[in-house]
Amino acid sequence: MKKTICLLPGDGIGPEIMAQGVNVLEACAKKFGHQFTFTHALLGGAAIDACGEPLPAATVQACQAADAVFLAAVGGPKWDNLAPQLRPERGLLGIRKALGLFANLRPAMLFPELAGACLLRPDIAAKGLDLIVLRELTGDLYYGEPRGREVRDGQRVGYNTMIYSEEEVRRIAVVAFETARKRRKKVCSVDKSNVLETSRLWKEIVEETHASYPDVALSHLYVDNAAMQLVRDPSQFDIILTGNIFGDILSDEASVLTGSLGMLPSASVGSTGPGLFEPVHGSAPDIAGQDKANPLATILSAAMLLRLGLDMEGEATAVEQAVRQTLADGFRTADIMESGKTLVGCTAMGSRVLERL
Ligand code: IPM
Ligand code: MG
Repeated sequence: MKKTICLLPGDGIGPEIMAQGVNVLEACAKKFGHQFTFTHALLGGAAIDACGEPLPAATVQACQAADAVFLAAVGGPKWDNLAPQLRPERGLLGIRKALGLFANLRPAMLFPELAGACLLRPDIAAKGLDLIVLRELTGDLYYGEPRGREVRDGQRVGYNTMIYSEEEVRRIAVVAFETARKRRKKVCSVDKSNVLETSRLWKEIVEETHASYPDVALSHLYVDNAAMQLVRDPSQFDIILTGNIFGDILSDEASVLTGSLGMLPSASVGSTGPGLFEPVHGSAPDIAGQDKANPLATILSAAMLLRLGLDMEGEATAVEQAVRQTLADGFRTADIMESGKTLVGCTAMGSRVLERL
């Protein structure tokens, strides 16, 4: 198959880890007889430096013209003092909105080879951790209007609006139930319906949508309880369905439990058009350019791109198996290093995966 993939290497370690991800995609194309064309576009700090804005129109066009978008990471201290609308994060929020990427899948699982890195007590970890935080990505406090700051009665105030429409909730609930059907058939919807009107609507629509999925078990948790249950016993979760702000927080919590943030991929998809695939971790400016970064989350994001973005299941599985084999053979970057293993840099780790592919 012929496919076009738009690359957004971004900032910090972005270009290094992306190079390894692209090598894997190229090797996959060769092995399975596909032809991938890579286009390049600027996002975040790299775009600010080159064109004065975090999301140039040319980047949106390049992404829209592709079959899938592959992003590494954006942001860094260099751009921390810019006005809010000019910060690198605005590029990320802007591209999510421009591509209509309302469903963000963030899997958190324990790689058996890295069990020692898990932050949980061994008896809790032994019960397993294999869940997906399914976060709504284009609504909620992030985009709600009105928003702003002003002076009221001589005091500075800031405000944002938490808002969801029923259609926004329904479409993400459908993704949750459909995804659960391919897994352990459990959805836990997380809200704050004991306090918030937005959440009461959320819960109502999730329940209505569930009527079409009787084979999937649905439960509900308040977000504070969910944060606690994630640490107490994450094995109870299969799909955690939640809104943009709760999902932002819970997905960081879920991913760090595994102890290997450098291992976790993510996917953001809409109802039509290309999906966007990126590692969960950030741009790690402190180690940028030193060939120390762990490229495995990016390589696993390439696997998600193959599976969900290009409908290439066999290819995705081949990449995931190559990563597992590389770990089983004892290769580790600094972030996941244990005694008795072989320490490698970013480029070498990428090469070890390629050999196994
Ligand atoms: C994430 C990040 C972003 C978010 C930031 C960088 C805007 O935290 O992808 O989780 O809040 O969505
Ligand atoms: Mg976040």
